[in-house]
Amino acid sequence: MKQFISVNDVKDVKKLIDKAIKLKKNTFKKKKICKTIGLVFFNPSLRTRLSSQKAAFNIGCNTWILNIDSYSWKIETSDGSVMNYTQEHIKEAIGVMSLYCDILAVRTFPGLLDREYDYEEILLKKIIKYSKVPVVNLESATLHPLQSLADLITIEEFKKKKKIKIVLSWAPHIKALPQSVPNSFIEWVKKIKDIKLYITNPYGYNLNSYFTNGIKLIHNQNEAFKNADFIYAKNWSSYDNYGKILCKDLSWTITKKKMKLTNEAKFMHCLPVRRNLVVEDSVLDDKNSIVLNQAENRIVATQTVFLEILENI
Ligand code: CP
Repeated sequence: MKQFISVNDVKDVKKLIDKAIKLKKNTFKKKKICKTIGLVFFNPSLRTRLSSQKAAFNIGCNTWILNIDSYSWKIETSDGSVMNYTQEHIKEAIGVMSLYCDILAVRTFPGLLDREYDYEEILLKKIIKYSKVPVVNLESATLHPLQSLADLITIEEFKKKKKIKIVLSWAPHIKALPQSVPNSFIEWVKKIKDIKLYITNPYGYNLNSYFTNGIKLIHNQNEAFKNADFIYAKNWSSYDNYGKILCKDLSWTITKKKMKLTNEAKFMHCLPVRRNLVVEDSVLDDKNSIVLNQAENRIVATQTVFLEILENI
């Protein structure tokens, strides 16, 4: 693997999942690799930051972390501007940081103001261009591939039968959130046969058809939940009315009553999650909630990706 930006960097998704599950049983036995992994955060994180550090530790790698907003110079990302208010250009910043590591992993959230800018992944593309080492996506403007890999590992571990139904359900939130988690989840699930994926969301919240093409969309959430084996809940802001909140309807909150419509479905969410807004306490605290398993699998997912890249250097 040369880099890890999206599912398109993976030759065989099923093989990668199997490799991760095998690695999980044998976490520390792999030969140690003395390399450095740089973790650069333009935005906040709990799981991605800590699981990446733990993943690097498990394979004998060293990490450094830079939180751009709090501990660095103000970075200029546009070209040709007179830098009266910014102190360092992304060209030098990434050029220098990439001299200090063997993999550069970055988090670059969308602004949710300019759809074209976000969906072109302008910032991530600049980072890839100026980096002298392979880049790993720790959640970009439109994608969160490490989350999706961890999610598929978790599904593989918890599924009770070969052919399964998964429902990706929109849920309410008070803030405008990115579309990266659902976008990635859809494109990764599409690579796995034997998963029938459905999406349910209110009118006005359809995701980018580039991702949803071929996936059945049901606007009636109760209808969609029937006989599901996994419910994946997530809020996302509108794609058509870009970055806007059109609905805060709490009738979309995931409840115990709705979960009863399913085939005793496992409940999934990438976290962080707002309790009793996105999902009721009773669902999150139920034995069928596997949100902590997803979070735990972020370690082995990242470890597998780091190894795939380092073995190729
Ligand atoms: N799921 C996830 O990426 O969590 P963080 O934003 O805390 O890293």
